[in-house]
Amino acid sequence: MVLECTPKDAAAIGALEVIERLGFRSGVIGVGTGSTVARFIERGVGLLGDSVLVASSLASALELSSRGLRPVDPRTVRGPIDLYIDGADEVDPEGRMIKGRGAALLGEKILAYASRLNIIIVDESKLVSSLGERKPLPIEVVPDSLGIVLASLERMGLSAEPRRGGGKDGPVVSDWGGVIVDVRLRPPVDPEALERELLSIPGVVETGLFIGLADFVVVGMEGCEWRVMRFNRSRGLELPGHR
Ligand code: 5RP
Repeated sequence: MVLECTPKDAAAIGALEVIERLGFRSGVIGVGTGSTVARFIERGVGLLGDSVLVASSLASALELSSRGLRPVDPRTVRGPIDLYIDGADEVDPEGRMIKGRGAALLGEKILAYASRLNIIIVDESKLVSSLGERKPLPIEVVPDSLGIVLASLERMGLSAEPRRGGGKDGPVVSDWGGVIVDVRLRPPVDPEALERELLSIPGVVETGLFIGLADFVVVGMEGCEWRVMRFNRSRGLELPGHR
């Protein structure tokens, strides 16, 4: 069977090649959430099958198990993760990202923060000049604080609303029990200052701003082409054969 190669597939293929060039064969791998990560799981079963896997969400754990892989209980993981692979909703030229379309931002950030190396896989449509250009910024909020947090966001001049999902009345509740609120940004924004401001609101558990966490961003394009953007820790790494 010949697999099709969409830009998301190209990003997954590129990431597997980067991982191989780095000489990484197995270890503890954190697995993000979303359709691009699903392409990676499909194509990377060999690598993943030889590793200990930690899923960033229930959706990601189910995706892994549908491929015959067995993620471990995240509560049993002690110590760093060797490699984390995930998608993103927006990536700016500094490698800063918005994540959380899948409401998995908390699990994703816990794993990305704990990982020695983060590889982000996106198609070209995710590249923006300033965060918030196309997508809202998801944040996770303690349910009982929702009304008060929304009022605080409004005082900060931010327009925000709890995300509504299909298959359930009321707001989307994450795997960790928080309500997902989508905040509309008015770019250009200062992501670092915004992150500090949002996290200063009691009741905000986490934000979908991922700053300083991307090492490699593998961008998939039409024609099964891909290219690599390097940030942070990846800058000091040898990547043999990289064009
Ligand atoms: C989920 C995420 C995803 O990584 C992000 O939404 C990208 O998803 P996709 O690969 O389906 O475009 O942050 O919470």
